[in-house]
Amino acid sequence: MTRKILITSALPYANGPIHLGHMVEYIQTDIWARFQRMRGNTCYYVCADDAHGTPIMLRARAEGIEPQQLIERISIEHQRDFAGFNISFDNYYSTHSPENQAYSEAIYKKAKAKGHITQRTIRQAYDATAQMFLPDRFIKGECPRCGSPDQYGDNCEVCGATYSPTDMKNPISTVSGTKPIEKETEHYFFKLGDFEGFLKSFLASGSVQKEIANKQMEWFESDQGLSDWDVSRDAPYWGFKIPDTADKYFYVWLDAPIGYLASFKNLCEKQGIDFNEYWAKNSQAEVYHFIGKDIAYFHTLFWPALLESGDFRVPTGVNCHGFLTVNGEKMSKSRGTFIQAESYLKHLPPDALRYYFASKLSNGIDDIDLNLEDFTQRVNSDLVNKFVNLASRSAGFINKSASSQLSPQLHDEALYQEFVTAGVEIAENFEKRRYNQAMRDIMALADKANQYIDAQKPWVLAKDPATKDQAHAIYSQGVQLFRVLAAYLKPVLPNLIKEAELFLNAGELTWDSIKTPLLNHTVLVFKPLMTRIEPEKIAAMIEDNKQALPTSAPVQAAKPSHLSADPISPTIQIDDFGKLDLRVVKILKAAPVEGADKLVQLTLDLGSETRNVFAGIKSAYDPKDLEGRLTVMVANLAPRKMRFGVSEGMVLAASAATAGQSLEVNL
Ligand code: 2FM
Ligand code: ZN
Repeated sequence: MTRKILITSALPYANGPIHLGHMVEYIQTDIWARFQRMRGNTCYYVCADDAHGTPIMLRARAEGIEPQQLIERISIEHQRDFAGFNISFDNYYSTHSPENQAYSEAIYKKAKAKGHITQRTIRQAYDATAQMFLPDRFIKGECPRCGSPDQYGDNCEVCGATYSPTDMKNPISTVSGTKPIEKETEHYFFKLGDFEGFLKSFLASGSVQKEIANKQMEWFESDQGLSDWDVSRDAPYWGFKIPDTADKYFYVWLDAPIGYLASFKNLCEKQGIDFNEYWAKNSQAEVYHFIGKDIAYFHTLFWPALLESGDFRVPTGVNCHGFLTVNGEKMSKSRGTFIQAESYLKHLPPDALRYYFASKLSNGIDDIDLNLEDFTQRVNSDLVNKFVNLASRSAGFINKSASSQLSPQLHDEALYQEFVTAGVEIAENFEKRRYNQAMRDIMALADKANQYIDAQKPWVLAKDPATKDQAHAIYSQGVQLFRVLAAYLKPVLPNLIKEAELFLNAGELTWDSIKTPLLNHTVLVFKPLMTRIEPEKIAAMIEDNKQALPTSAPVQAAKPSHLSADPISPTIQIDDFGKLDLRVVKILKAAPVEGADKLVQLTLDLGSETRNVFAGIKSAYDPKDLEGRLTVMVANLAPRKMRFGVSEGMVLAASAATAGQSLEVNL
């Protein structure tokens, strides 16, 4: 019986590029989608950009553009990168869509009508200069536990403490660089506690991996039970207005998962699919979310409760995976291992990474490591030396000495059957997301096929006319076995197997098609399906990626200038320092910038050229006093587009000469 399946990957934020950490999930999901389709099931795979929230609003502001423009640009970039890795979405949409607004409002209204929404006044950090409430991530200061400087407002990366921004010492808004105040505001809450019984049975139902379910169960054990979930945010906010309020917006995490419904609804409208068949309470279809373990909380508590409240069905499965490390460490911008999808694709084939991730991915939540040396070796050894070589060593004879015709019988029927039968367990491993086991099984078969050819020595038999037919039968068997393995690898290697299908000349491989061998069949001329990965390519990718990385965080504020002694920034290495090209420059011209309170526009003489720089130093200097003076600039900083023009570097300036004063850099 064919199954009806809807699957999703987490919706990436529309404020940054796709990197290989993201790709773990999209590759994991895509392999599953392709596998299901190959099995003859109906399988829709939908996704979207997660387009709302404060970081997107502020980033657009920093670039001097509207949020709408930013999310349109990023959506194009995301879709380009996903296409580069052959991620086979049936629909890629945006949470900033009419469908999403309609579902978000409907779900909220229903929750309210059922008494699951409550409202109360809270005190929240407020940036009086920027005139906005601050999410914890936009507050930095000293950890209340260990005193480490430069920590975010919700947790300390040094000692692991979690706290609220009000507990921090010397908190600073990263939006304006000023000290936040506390201000009262009315917020709306979803009463998660109303769903305690429902959520307990959802977590026990097997829809969530055990380790995740156990972790979530801990939330029920606290004295207060499940806390209310704050689903509102104050203006200015980039998102959907909450119905019947003057200036409250849905928190991005409310409308993000609803984006799954909205993207699917959009697909249904385009293709005439029955939405209710997948999402109504009595649905017989299967729905799976693929996510990272960091967002399990949203997907296994808030999301099922929202669906239940909204009278939708809950997911059949929430499939969590671990994080990606590169060469055993957290991805790092300075090491160049924060590898962007675009940089990878410029230098290396998508199928290589798809295969490597498949060979590492299980259905657990352990982190996986992309060791670049191991990656090179694994791809060369498994795909090139074992799999592709099986075809190329057999195809030579078939093309040249047998008019591309495969022999009329199998040389070893039992071996062929063994390969077909192995497909049952391989399919089970794909189904259960044990791709690593599936890859091991497939490569063991590839070894076996190569050993069979080695043992038969057809190249010797081919030389003697009396045994040439035998050689033909053995090489044909090589192609038949290659075909079976190609089918098993098809969910993982879309590009490579498309080429293999062309060579085999028998249409699309499905899980069932391989039960029958291609006897007496004419294949096409074999072309090399994949070449070895050379270490130089990896080095070139890392180098390219270093160049491509943004040189500064998009919304980084200056260090506060009014602190008598700023916290010392995290230690850098000599290499980092060596990257700075510092130049003494003469300020030729300094002028105020209309519409910008803090900026001074500087024209700088570098000797060989002049540069335009916008510096956030107006509170400390009268522009007139700067003209003719010397300063030091960072001359090799990537140009930055600002609302008022392009800034081509940074100047160093001190607002007061006290010991410990940090030098101000522009913006
Ligand atoms: O963590 C993230 O990157 C979120 N943008 C994921 C959202 S998934 C879903 F809920 F929309
Ligand atoms: Zn700490």
